[in-house]
Amino acid sequence: MTNKQTIALVTGGIGGIGTEICKALCRQNHRVFAGYLGAEADAARDWQNQMLEDEYPVEIVAGDVSCFDSSSQMIAEVRERLGDVDVLINCAGITRDASLRKMQSQQWQDVINTNLDSVFNVTRHVVDGMIERGFGRVVNISSVNGQKGQFGQTNYAAAKAGIHGFTMSLAQEVARKGVTVNTVSPGYIDTAMTQAVAADIRAQIVARIPIGRMGEPADIANAVAFLCAEESGYITGANIAVNGGMYMSY
Ligand code: CAA
Ligand code: NAP
Repeated sequence: MTNKQTIALVTGGIGGIGTEICKALCRQNHRVFAGYLGAEADAARDWQNQMLEDEYPVEIVAGDVSCFDSSSQMIAEVRERLGDVDVLINCAGITRDASLRKMQSQQWQDVINTNLDSVFNVTRHVVDGMIERGFGRVVNISSVNGQKGQFGQTNYAAAKAGIHGFTMSLAQEVARKGVTVNTVSPGYIDTAMTQAVAADIRAQIVARIPIGRMGEPADIANAVAFLCAEESGYITGANIAVNGGMYMSY
């Protein structure tokens, strides 16, 4: 299937991890769309120009994944411009860290809407087409903190743990239709998201990572590209941890 050009959509595609996923999927010969928040149109155009300069022919498409209707419009636009989405990477996400005693309702809602509802909002619009064509790949980006919890992240850990429940359930629903659904759970990766953590707290966290450093976005992109390959069609409902040994389980 990857010899034929499949269409891939990466939500949060212009973010730190999303950018490397877009590059990896281009190298794998997919036609790649990077989803971005409408308010970021200028940044998205600059990002696209840089990608083209680096010889990654990526398209960009606006959409707010926390909103069902906006996600629907985003998928319709991809369809009109190029065709149906064969490969979906649900990568958009935010943090609004606070201990529960300080957490405001808005912080809870924003994280659940953007990190968990989004997975339904986008996947719902592509799954029928994948089933009809007999091929599809969905990769959901969760987090080590969904697996182990983290002080200050009741909202984020709940959303990220919820993602894998979605993965395992949808994987069963579409397993006989050539569609795989998997989770990748990154550890602490060097992007704007982790740079927002206070330096002293970040240093304490990094000191507990067995490999001794944060990961790079390319480490995550590599796992995502592996799952998207046609040869990975027998892997479904799985979680691949890419966390430098921070949390080990089987
Ligand atoms: N473990 C245990 N106790 C802790 C603690 C920790 N990690 N952090 C703070 N505390 C304690 C403090 O010592 C203090 O104790 P006392 O009251 O006895 O003095 C108390 O908790 C303070 O509680 P507060 O609610 O006032 O905490 P705060 O407002 O100072 O800080 C926080 C809260 C901003 C969430 C901070 O703990 C923090 O930044 N934590 C890290 C969150 C994190 O790892 N985020 C990851 C973002 S990147 C990402 O999410 C990507 C990914 O998937 C990996
Ligand atoms: P990032 O650089 O901040 O990228 C996140 C992207 O998502 C940004 O481009 C952001 O756009 C976009 N986004 C946010 N809300 C959106 C919405 N409602 N609709 C559409 N796009 C939206 O962070 P990252 O580190 O690459 O994170 C990517 C994913 O990996 C997230 O799901 C994150 O939870 C997960 N993850 C990250 C780490 C890590 O250590 N970095 C670890 C585990 C998991 P704006 O910039 O405009 O907000």
